[in-house]
Amino acid sequence: MGLAWRADGRLVLLTGGFELVQAVGLGAGLLLLRHTVSALLATAPVAGAGSAAADRGGLAAVGVATLILLGMGTLGAALQLTAAAVQSVLRLKTERMAVGEVVAAAAAVDLEKFEDPAFHDRVERAVLAANRYAPLTLTLLFAGLRTGLMLVALAVPLVLMAWWLLPLLALLVVPTVRVALSRQRAMYGLQVHLTENSRTRYYLTQLLTGRDEAKEIRAFDLAGYMWQRLTDCYRQVLAETTALQRRFTLLGIGARLATDILLAAVAAALVVAAATGRLEAATAFTVLGALYLAGRNATATAALAGVAGGAMLYLDALREFTAPSTPLPPPVPVRSGFTSVEARKLSFTYPAGHRPALTDVSVRLGAGEVIALVGENGSGKTTLAKLLTGLYRPTGGQIVLDSTPVTDPADLRGLAAVLFQDYLRYKLTAKDNITLGRPERHTDTGAIETATANAGATTIISGLPHGYDTRLGTEYTGGVDLSTGQWQRIALARAFFRDAPLVVLDEPTAAMDPLAEADLFTAIRQLFTGRTVLLISHRFSSVRAADRIYVLKDGRIIEHGTHHDLLATDGVYADMFLTQAAAYLGTPTPD
Ligand SMILES: Nc1ncnc2c1ncn2[C@@H]1O[C@H](COP(=O)(O)OP(=O)(O)O)[C@@H](O)[C@H]1O
Ligand SMILES: [Mg+2]
Repeated sequence: MGLAWRADGRLVLLTGGFELVQAVGLGAGLLLLRHTVSALLATAPVAGAGSAAADRGGLAAVGVATLILLGMGTLGAALQLTAAAVQSVLRLKTERMAVGEVVAAAAAVDLEKFEDPAFHDRVERAVLAANRYAPLTLTLLFAGLRTGLMLVALAVPLVLMAWWLLPLLALLVVPTVRVALSRQRAMYGLQVHLTENSRTRYYLTQLLTGRDEAKEIRAFDLAGYMWQRLTDCYRQVLAETTALQRRFTLLGIGARLATDILLAAVAAALVVAAATGRLEAATAFTVLGALYLAGRNATATAALAGVAGGAMLYLDALREFTAPSTPLPPPVPVRSGFTSVEARKLSFTYPAGHRPALTDVSVRLGAGEVIALVGENGSGKTTLAKLLTGLYRPTGGQIVLDSTPVTDPADLRGLAAVLFQDYLRYKLTAKDNITLGRPERHTDTGAIETATANAGATTIISGLPHGYDTRLGTEYTGGVDLSTGQWQRIALARAFFRDAPLVVLDEPTAAMDPLAEADLFTAIRQLFTGRTVLLISHRFSSVRAADRIYVLKDGRIIEHGTHHDLLATDGVYADMFLTQAAAYLGTPTPD
């Protein structure tokens, strides 16, 4: 309700008001009904007795009362329709509010958390709560308010007519509410227990229906096999859900039976009381009608209470995930320059890692330098780049920026433009793919064109049907796809567009042809004039022009220096360089 209030307080009041008016209408209607029936009974059997004028007057009063009752019914229906419409708007606003809080909380979380399965379970539940249970709870609360008010509206005239019925009325709802609540609690517990199963089902479904996945699923003919895996997941959910539902259905039937026996007993008592003249017939008639309404209402209340109880558990999950409620963190501003970034004896182990990815790594990046990191796959190059750009917090050692130790890794993020090895391919326009490097400058056409040209992507853009405005991704109307090498150039343009003092290029030419690669490396110093470039490659031959080369092996720096220094040392670098060069030239490997 707090969420809804923050989303739109006025609508909350409006809907609540509608419900109140309807309930008051119902209560007044009942009293009027009793009055009318009473008048009718007084008029009907007196044919012959009394004057015809008095009869006519009595009938007219009954007619007016009936008309008023009808009018109230119409008004109530109109109010209900309006309240439903207002509520659906309010639900959407509440959902937006809740999703916003989840997104902000997720954005504020450190990258490490994303390696933790329990975190993803919590995210899954929070997203579900925001998308489904926050708006649902709103509906439930209003429905609960309605049935609650209706019960009160029914209870007031009942008390006026036969006060001794009130405790019975309260008793009516107890068994069904209790069963409904424990059923929902059990359902939630099952859902928590099966969250990872649910994520796996979602993932397998995505594999079977996604556009990016379709190619490989077909090439390896995996659809049948994946469907089998999906079925296995469903089997577990079905078995556990069926067992739980069976148990609670039996309990629910029992509770309903108890309620109905109670109702029947009350009805019988009423009939007896009326027959023996201890209760006025009109009162007995109205009370019976009201009891019938209350009985229906009680079941609805119980069902509502149950679902609301379940939804509340989800909202707790939402609150736990988003608390304390933080606004979306503002972007770290891009810095204009720096003197040096130094890693001092850095160590890092991934949360899910069994051994350190980096151990005692020291590197120095000076302003305007081109620094290269080389090493075999898995030697720790990407990990070092992630630490230097503030994506992870080192588990040992420190990073020093302009001779000040960095305490908040976010400070490093404003320093760098990174072209990741597994960069994102945004299924947005080509222009978006470039300007997302620095969204606040997305209207700077000149800068967009320069970044495109520097990345060698001008001909790619001019070849697109709508140029920069072409949507990339064929699953969208008018969308086109690019080759891997073309995507890489667009991602490179994004790095250029960010215009940051440190540029990290993680295997930037892996998908480019050798000529394009040579061009890029020759031009790198000129392209990034005045900037520091950290160039990562597993191709030793491609980094020879760097000011300094660091060789990584098993998470440690084993050699560093210029290309000439390293060749002269005749160590691992020299060995790998000559091996790779020989492979290109087709000559036997020197040893
Ligand atoms: N998210 C991760 N969780 C656990 N281990 C990881 C993760 N990412 C990388 N690693 C491990 O860290 C080591 C270094 O990886 P990486 O820095 O990506 O190597 P490189 O970029 O040199 O190929 C590897 O052993 C790899 O398996
Ligand atoms: Mg890598």
